Amino acid sequence: MAEVVRIGLIGCGTVGQGVVQLLLAEAGEIERKVCLRLELARVADKDRAQPAKAGVPADRVTTNAADIFNDPSISIVIELVGGTTIAKEFVLQALRAGKHVVTANKALLAKHGREIYRTARESGRCVAFEASCGGGIPLILPIRQGLIANRISAIYGILNGTCNYILSEMDQKGKSYAQALSEAQQAGYAELDPTLDVNGTDTAHKLAVLASLAFMADVDFDKIHIEGIESLDAQDLAAGREMGYVCKLLGIAGRTEEGLSLRVHPAFVSKSHPLAGSSGSFNAISVYGNWVGHTLYYGRGAGQKPTASAVVADLVEIAVGNMPRTFERFRMLNDVNEQPVYAPIDDLQLRYYVRLMVADRAGVMAQITRCFGDLGIGLRAITQHEPTDDAPDGTVPVMVLTHKTREGQMKKALAAIAALDSVRAAPVTIRLVEEHEEYSS
Ligand code: HSE
Repeated sequence: MAEVVRIGLIGCGTVGQGVVQLLLAEAGEIERKVCLRLELARVADKDRAQPAKAGVPADRVTTNAADIFNDPSISIVIELVGGTTIAKEFVLQALRAGKHVVTANKALLAKHGREIYRTARESGRCVAFEASCGGGIPLILPIRQGLIANRISAIYGILNGTCNYILSEMDQKGKSYAQALSEAQQAGYAELDPTLDVNGTDTAHKLAVLASLAFMADVDFDKIHIEGIESLDAQDLAAGREMGYVCKLLGIAGRTEEGLSLRVHPAFVSKSHPLAGSSGSFNAISVYGNWVGHTLYYGRGAGQKPTASAVVADLVEIAVGNMPRTFERFRMLNDVNEQPVYAPIDDLQLRYYVRLMVADRAGVMAQITRCFGDLGIGLRAITQHEPTDDAPDGTVPVMVLTHKTREGQMKKALAAIAALDSVRAAPVTIRLVEEHEEYSS
């Protein structure tokens, strides 16, 4: 007879229903693999109809999460409420009630990781969060296990399925931003508030979680430089394609001489870059270790089934006893680490794509190149197309690719360019991100 592990689930939305369905379908198979019976004892949701949709019997549904905390037979609580207010209370209450916690809540861990891990440690319980980053991709596990012998030098990740879906659909199928976003929402990729996806916040939450582990630091979410994809234009994606680049929203964390660099922004990567081939809701994450070199993790980064897969993987990790033991020893989490020194964004050395909307008249190109030249910024390519018939006042787009330069210099050049009376709109810039050196210090 397999041991029975009783589980409580709080929050039965898209992912919660996926977990319920997965357990209904696969508990027998999991039992064959690990000799444990995962039993969903109680499901709490403020709306009883949600668990019912997934097939949870009415007598196991409650609208009061305390029914789960107060049930001594439940040893693991899954938090899938989302957000950082009531979800935080639920997680802390579950830990204090002596339950292990599984969560997919990257926002919660990014902002309150220190308090949550400390509470878990004080309670002699663990928090497992594989589903918080990269959807169904095992990503936390390799960092805390398979790569444990390494010092991580950098992480480059496509970490938001919604944004990757939008960018791919715009670039490959010519869809509008609004249409692609609406499809991503229908497919269950987007957050309840999709602003968090498209403005880069969700990627930054995941980056904070990953960077804390990988660099053994109590990362302060507010120190991450964040830019989203809302202001990207189809003409920039097309210009990039023409020049051999694909646009991705990247989360980047890396050790530099100035400190830990943490940033989220759209980036052009060359078509041969390891992350270029990841389209749609797929995520791809490169992790560089000083012994292992480059490792790449790829899979569905969002959606009901992949995320449920990661949640249940954590349940098993806890139920078989791995995670509680590891967690106790773990010195890679926020609560036992210090704030790192952060590298200023202005010290980045990168190449840039710049699009300027300028008056189509003599001497304009010379004015622009002088602004770059005065700040020592070399240009590798300049493209100007003929004005289209509908161009307002003969305004034309000029696309520029720069040589490598300091971000601080670039900002100065762009300020000077924006002040020219021939420049008709704020310059659009996209950073070019090259493949990270495999073995860097
Ligand atoms: N909204 C998230 C995404 C879900 O699109 O990646 C997975 O965390």
